[in-house]
Amino acid sequence: MSYIELTTPCIFGVETVLKKEIMDLGYTIKEVEDGRITYEADELGICRSNLWLRTAERVMIKVGDFEATSFEALFQKTKDLPWERWIPQDGKFWVKKVASIKSKLFSPSDIQSIIKKAMVERLKRIHGVNWFKEDGAHYPLRVFIKKDRVSICLDASGEALHRRGYRTLTSKAPISETLAAAMIQLSPWNKERILVDPFCGSGTIPIEAAMIAMNMAPGLNREYEAEAWKHIIPPKLWLRAVDEANDVMDTTSKFSISGYDMDYKVLKLARENAKNAGVDHVIHLQERDMRQIRHPKKYGFVITNPPYGERLEDKESVMALYKEMKVAFDHLDNWSYYIITSFDDFERYYGKKADKKRKLYTGMMKANLYQYFGDKPPRRK
Ligand SMILES: C[S@@+](CC[C@H](N)C(=O)[O-])C[C@H]1O[C@@H](n2cnc3c(N)ncnc32)[C@H](O)[C@@H]1O
Repeated sequence: MSYIELTTPCIFGVETVLKKEIMDLGYTIKEVEDGRITYEADELGICRSNLWLRTAERVMIKVGDFEATSFEALFQKTKDLPWERWIPQDGKFWVKKVASIKSKLFSPSDIQSIIKKAMVERLKRIHGVNWFKEDGAHYPLRVFIKKDRVSICLDASGEALHRRGYRTLTSKAPISETLAAAMIQLSPWNKERILVDPFCGSGTIPIEAAMIAMNMAPGLNREYEAEAWKHIIPPKLWLRAVDEANDVMDTTSKFSISGYDMDYKVLKLARENAKNAGVDHVIHLQERDMRQIRHPKKYGFVITNPPYGERLEDKESVMALYKEMKVAFDHLDNWSYYIITSFDDFERYYGKKADKKRKLYTGMMKANLYQYFGDKPPRRK
């Protein structure tokens, strides 16, 4: 195994969760930035990270990192990077995405073509050829420039990691799988405690919670770009990572996770998704209006993503719904509530100030996670 620096983008605000996930896999954190974590790993780390990181958007190999304020510097410094370590002679490589913040270089198309030219220049010299057929495996690159510091990364995931493979069907406003996993892990919930999502829609929060409770790797049901990079990661390492994940999965553990929704059509999707994820037998999904929420036990958790009124005409009904939520939740004895919404004045309509509030930004959405803490259950003697 050799030293490989990996970098993973995540939703802004969940860096602490992702950092813990990476450390739990046994890797050393090198840098934590807003929406991005860089860490030290090896070839097996690429497989494990893809399979296990619940809150990472993708796993990338950091090929290089340098300052550049001119296209000439970008060209020269890209050419100096050891591309031959990563890209074989038949590899197809291109800059898939450029993001530039507060930097002199910002034109994506120019940055894309200069980086490609510099790579071709170096690889031509190394391989002693003038032309690359590029008919082999794919090597998509992602480039991030922040305050003139350029990071060039190879995307080892391909499709974003929130695409676990189980959610083929979604309701109108589904929460992303990574955000659902982040909400759950930002709370102190564990499988000993009850979890209810009264607005479960396509089931994302209960499904993610069940996978956490069973210690099920979220990425077992999909493929990764880096599986084709056989000169970097021998196929036996992928098999090893999958075997490890299957070995530690706990299929016998008992827990109480439920999802309710008033829309039976949406619940059908949730059931289908839960089945795809392999957790349909361990979660309870039921048609129920949030106003009917009741539970005989104390100290449970509501983790949920209620409607937030996308359209202007929905806003009023959402305000009324938030008020009714508080009335309904007051039937639960000493529970904790973790409610995510992008509706700005949530606390005002819900009628209670959150104990803690956390901003979470995704590319498209700015939301707040409102946290209301119940007591912990007394320790068993
Ligand atoms: C933002 S969506 C939840 C999306 C879900 N987290 C997912 O990943 O698909 C809100 C859900 O609340 C449901 N809903 C709205 N009013 C409700 C009520 N009074 N009781 C129960 N469910 C309700 C809607 O049917 C919708 O599925």
